[in-house]
Amino acid sequence: MLKEEEDQMAPVPEKPLLNVLNGKRQDPIPLWMMRQAGRHLPEYMELRGRAKNFLDFCYTPSLAVEATLQPIERYGMDGAILFADILLILDALGRGVRFEKGVGPIVETVETGGRLNEVPVQTVVERLSPVYETVSRVKSRLPAETTLIGFAGAPWTVALYAIEGRGGTDKSTARLWAHQHPAELDLLLDDLVEATAHYMAAQAEAGAEALMMFDSWAEGLPNDIFEQIIIRPNQKLVKRLRELGVTVPLIGFPRGAGVQLPAFAEQTGVSAVGLDTAALPSFVNRELPSGMPVQGHLDPLLLMTGGDAMERRIIELLEAYKDRPHIFNLGHGVLPQTPIPNVERAVRTVRNWKAS
Ligand code: CP3
Repeated sequence: MLKEEEDQMAPVPEKPLLNVLNGKRQDPIPLWMMRQAGRHLPEYMELRGRAKNFLDFCYTPSLAVEATLQPIERYGMDGAILFADILLILDALGRGVRFEKGVGPIVETVETGGRLNEVPVQTVVERLSPVYETVSRVKSRLPAETTLIGFAGAPWTVALYAIEGRGGTDKSTARLWAHQHPAELDLLLDDLVEATAHYMAAQAEAGAEALMMFDSWAEGLPNDIFEQIIIRPNQKLVKRLRELGVTVPLIGFPRGAGVQLPAFAEQTGVSAVGLDTAALPSFVNRELPSGMPVQGHLDPLLLMTGGDAMERRIIELLEAYKDRPHIFNLGHGVLPQTPIPNVERAVRTVRNWKAS
């Protein structure tokens, strides 16, 4: 571009987190925390009381916008994660989804060989329009340096809720599908790839500047099945998003992938990977493509514990990733019992650290 043209353009605000996702080191290290919005914040509990249930909360932009902004206002995080849930898409796909107090989400199950293609994708996308409304309203209120992150559940993790009816099971029903009816499972995952791609593309269209795919139930799988149900569907989702014209960075989060992480990072086409609590920094640095941005991965229980031990571990993680683009985060979500001063101390520790 000519210098004169450059001078005429309004300056583009720098977004440190987005820069890292685009492959640059930033100093200080940008940060946000999975589940930074939600039950550890008293202001969330107050807001939450205004909706009759959690689904209604997610579908009410005025409430979801406030919930998204609360951790930005309180902690000054570099990333704002859209307030929604990975199970909204199952609701839009016509499966009954309920969130029960003390139990968690309960989903109407899909029988073996069943599909998730009865509701046309266009209808699914329309049913989720309050989410895009939230995205665009948050975008207009965010500080110029904050990155807005949209998200969805990755196909296997969403399928798991539809097959098992809930999370936290031993996954044996879903894993038996993979062994006994692999072709049928592929079709179900493809249904989710298609609906999810359009849903995420609509979030990007509304202003999301990065998109994250949560594969929260990727652990403990044999490598051939990992390939079938984690790598391939994430790869198809990335490809479909790019075909739909989405250009923003994509963050994969195959929680519990362990030794399969390098294959995930190399084969899916994601721009960055979220590391889980158990990830081993030396392994990550040795096995992941050099220059690939990573995000993570303080143990949420250590954040809950706080103190010097937490601070030491944060510094250890920052040191460990000093030679690649890094975004500080947790290895999984903030737990509801986490004391606010611990989060504040974690934020200060990251902000004050300098690469040696
Ligand atoms: O700060 C944020 O991250 C807010 C947005 C957000 C929520 N859920 C809000 C939520 C995001 C990104 C999610 C993702 C999500 N939801 C995942 C993937 C990440 C992960 O934790 O592995 C999963 C597996 C779900 C499914 C889900 N939703 C469960 C298992 C539960 C119940 C357990 C729990 O943590 O509460 C939910 C409910 C939920 N999602 C709440 C919030 C704030 C609590 C609902 C309430 O306020 O009562």
